[in-house]
Amino acid sequence: MAIETTSAAGFGERIMALADRLAQWSEIPDGLTCTYLTPAHRSVAAELGDLMRRAGLATEIDAVGNVVGRYAAADPRARALILASHYDTVRNAGKYDGRLGVLTALVLAEHLEREGRKLPFHLDVVAFSEEEGVRFSSSFLGSRAMAGRFDRALLQRRDADGHSLAEVMQDAGRDPEKIPALARRAEELAGYLEVHIEQGPVLLEAGLPVGIVSAIAGSVRRLLTITGTAGHAGTVPMARRHDAAAAAAEVVLTVEKRCAQAPTLVGTVGQLTVPGGAINIIPGRCELSLDIRAADDATRDAAVSDVMAEIGRIGERRGVAIESREMQRTAAVQCSPRLQSLLADAAMGLGVTPRYLASGAGHDAMVFDGLTDTAMLFVRCGNGGVSHSPRETVTAEDADIAARVLLDAVLRLAATS
Ligand code: HGY
Ligand code: MN
Ligand code: MN
Repeated sequence: MAIETTSAAGFGERIMALADRLAQWSEIPDGLTCTYLTPAHRSVAAELGDLMRRAGLATEIDAVGNVVGRYAAADPRARALILASHYDTVRNAGKYDGRLGVLTALVLAEHLEREGRKLPFHLDVVAFSEEEGVRFSSSFLGSRAMAGRFDRALLQRRDADGHSLAEVMQDAGRDPEKIPALARRAEELAGYLEVHIEQGPVLLEAGLPVGIVSAIAGSVRRLLTITGTAGHAGTVPMARRHDAAAAAAEVVLTVEKRCAQAPTLVGTVGQLTVPGGAINIIPGRCELSLDIRAADDATRDAAVSDVMAEIGRIGERRGVAIESREMQRTAAVQCSPRLQSLLADAAMGLGVTPRYLASGAGHDAMVFDGLTDTAMLFVRCGNGGVSHSPRETVTAEDADIAARVLLDAVLRLAATS
């Protein structure tokens, strides 16, 4: 099915221009950081709401800060196809992680509105408010709320400044009591599609603009606190030390070694601090994070248990106490074969060879697994595929192809609905 393209400029250039526009709101002067419900985050939500309204979508910012715009079907009782991704970012982020998917969905809605083209289902353009889990160490707050999988205990979780999630939400005019009402029911949904940057080198090395996600890795995230004995850096003999940072260093190398032992297994210690540390004090305390993932849960869980067993031995050997708290566990998910083949047909219709690849990164799509069919379209990244970095980059041409593949897939779904 040949699909009409949009104006001469194409979708891609508008997506890139809008990504630049959203990147102007940041918590840091010399880069992009936009974490949950900060002033920058709330400005981006307001801008997305304006853009959706100007596209003719019935728009609201919901109780957890998701920006939701509906391009309504002719029949009000129709189900909804969700086209989504997230607008929060990691610290010192790139401009496209999450936002590429939100803006691709937006330009599609703009296009359909311009063409006056009604679909047999509502098209819900959704910008999730909190996918990265930076501020409260728990990802997918926005998508979990919409999928009816929000854990109310998280409302008590505190950020680095000691503010609870509930307080932060109330300060931002968001009412936690309204979260349960956000839950979508399976029978209301026609499916979920997400465009996202690949955040890796596979498509770049294959010379392909887009790829179809087959599966999304599941992760376990833990926070460790190591308590040793602080002391004078000059007077305590090495053999008598209980150095918390030295123990942490062994933990890092244990994670690196064990997580190199299976193809899709990865392990990262992304945060490591000596609170109140000083150059001449033996670290008495060290806090660090664990993030262990794999394309299947058994591989991941075996690695987690091996790492935790070795951590116990490190604590014994060094005479330090090591406490561990599980912050999050997400199961690996397989994407819908039906929606994957829809994306593949759309890609082939545009002359792009379908390439299937697993996602090592987590995505909001996985939160809807089991509630509705979900699938993702990856877009090639430049600079070796780097992401979670200001060096993250995509081209307008690839963004344009992704938008046209997504549009064609939506129209194919409409034709079969
Ligand atoms: O950490 C992740 O996998 C994603 O970027 N939230
Ligand atoms: Mn990310
Ligand atoms: Mn992302």
